[in-house]
Amino acid sequence: MCGITAYVGTDDAVGGLLTGLANLEYRGYDSAGIAVKNGRGLRVVKREGELERLREALGTERPTGTIGIGHTRWSTHGPPTDENAHPHTDCTGRVAVVHNGIIENYETLREELSATGHEFHSETDTEVVPHLIEAELERHENPESAFRAAVSRLEGSYAIACLVDETEVVYAARQGSPLVLGQAEGRYFLASDVPAFREFTDEVVYLEDGDIVVVRPDGYTVTDCSGVPLARPVETVDWEPEAAGKSGYPHYMLKEIHEQPASLRQTLQGRVESLAGTVTLEEFPPGAFADVEQVQFVAMGTSHHAAMYAASMLSGRGVTANAYMAGEYADSPPPMSADTLVVAVTQSGETADTMNAVRRARDGGARTLAVTNVVGSSVTRECDDSLFIRAGPEIGVAATKTFSSQVATLSLVAERVAEDVTGVASADTRALLDALSDLPGDVQRILDESPAREVAEALYGCDAYFFIGRRAAYPVALEGALKFKEITYEHAEGFAASELKHGPLALVTDETPVFGVLTGEDETKTIGNLKEVQARDAPVIVVAPPSKADKVGFADYVLTIPESHPEVGGILANVQLQLVSYHAADLLGRPIDKPRNLAKSVTVE
Ligand code: M6R
Repeated sequence: MCGITAYVGTDDAVGGLLTGLANLEYRGYDSAGIAVKNGRGLRVVKREGELERLREALGTERPTGTIGIGHTRWSTHGPPTDENAHPHTDCTGRVAVVHNGIIENYETLREELSATGHEFHSETDTEVVPHLIEAELERHENPESAFRAAVSRLEGSYAIACLVDETEVVYAARQGSPLVLGQAEGRYFLASDVPAFREFTDEVVYLEDGDIVVVRPDGYTVTDCSGVPLARPVETVDWEPEAAGKSGYPHYMLKEIHEQPASLRQTLQGRVESLAGTVTLEEFPPGAFADVEQVQFVAMGTSHHAAMYAASMLSGRGVTANAYMAGEYADSPPPMSADTLVVAVTQSGETADTMNAVRRARDGGARTLAVTNVVGSSVTRECDDSLFIRAGPEIGVAATKTFSSQVATLSLVAERVAEDVTGVASADTRALLDALSDLPGDVQRILDESPAREVAEALYGCDAYFFIGRRAAYPVALEGALKFKEITYEHAEGFAASELKHGPLALVTDETPVFGVLTGEDETKTIGNLKEVQARDAPVIVVAPPSKADKVGFADYVLTIPESHPEVGGILANVQLQLVSYHAADLLGRPIDKPRNLAKSVTVE
């Protein structure tokens, strides 16, 4: 997982590249570098560490030039060092390359190139690319032909941008890793994601796998690998640049938690008609899923919790549905057929495990549907159909607003699929749609009134944190624990409340706060479980609607959620848990937006 960017214009390239890298840091931040072309050759500056270290280096050795490429790295091959940082160059220093993805045949290429005298200085897979281009430049007079020839030798996934010294051009290629082009007056940008250049332009071209792009100061061409021109539409992004900034919040995560009323409105807009009790899902009119016999969700992390939530909703409506961890599914898929709908839930649309699961599903003849946040992402290219959660860009590594939008979107999918498959509308549909219509306002009430900071102040620094729930509250318990461990670095685990007595109870002490999630159903048994842990001295925190107040009076803390439908109550409960995690991490002084060892989207298995 890395971010690449490129700039082609007539003014200083370095500023545009650094802005792009800062906006892409969520994709990786263990080293960064740029290469700029000026009249005296290519200048490469790169540093291990966060972007700030590169900025410091540029303070003393800032290159000038109007064309350049940049990279922010998340290590896959070789540790984060200056040598392993991108851009990588060839033996002559004529070629510089930045790359996101994995070159699977790099060992073979490296042996072949070493045998003909090429010298390597890094442990990366990427370094074979500039050397391959160097070798092809000896065979092809035209650098563009050399670039094409080199790219045709690569196996694996890549988004590549390349400078060749004697040309005023950036050459780029996409295969399996995201790459978008932005065009503004007199300037062009290439990047792994739109936020890199959104403050400069809203006109974008989403490149596709197999595309080769040649960008000059006066225009660009998109062709396939053999040079056949391809038409790619220019699209206008519908979100403002501020949507990718912090807007005065200390962290992206807090900003994104507070964006949920707006992002949920956007998710639900035009899709819910609660008075009529109808769901409108763009390309999926009533009957669109009539042939489906079973639903298999594939996803990882937070998206997997949203998938579990959706599977439980479908099962409750009489449809056979299961949620699988995509990484496991890819290795040992369950039986499937043409009647199986495989739904890939992925915020980024780039998660390698989820992509592989989609490929297995396609091989197995299943119908595939992507539920994602990112238009033009890889998953949308590989699935038969796509549905967007419309949460807007999410920068914080910890997923927050996208979980809420995933569950809201999937609840509509569950309604449509269940009605198509069973032939009857759920008696509960109207109540669910009413609750969804109220959801943005209900989330706002939580944000305005939550005592999460006080709870975090009282409980941070304990030995471990447990989260329990049943039915829709079970994936919420898992998500609460994932968020807590991810950003506080404290030990946190989620359990089905029924599982507690089968082992985890042995861990419960006065140093292990237990969060109980009550969304309005099956609360009696979960309340019983909470009393059991309280009898073992554990602090008890209950997330529950006011109607349960008399039943949860024994709790040490209550995080109240508005009354709602039980299946929507899980989204509300999760917002309270997001806030507790955020405040605990803040009190512990953790780097909330960039938790150690984690990246926003995980494009390796
Ligand atoms: O982009 P995806 O939704 O496919 O990402 C899946 C997980 O990597 C992701 O949800 C991860 O668990 C988050 N960091 C959790 O906050």
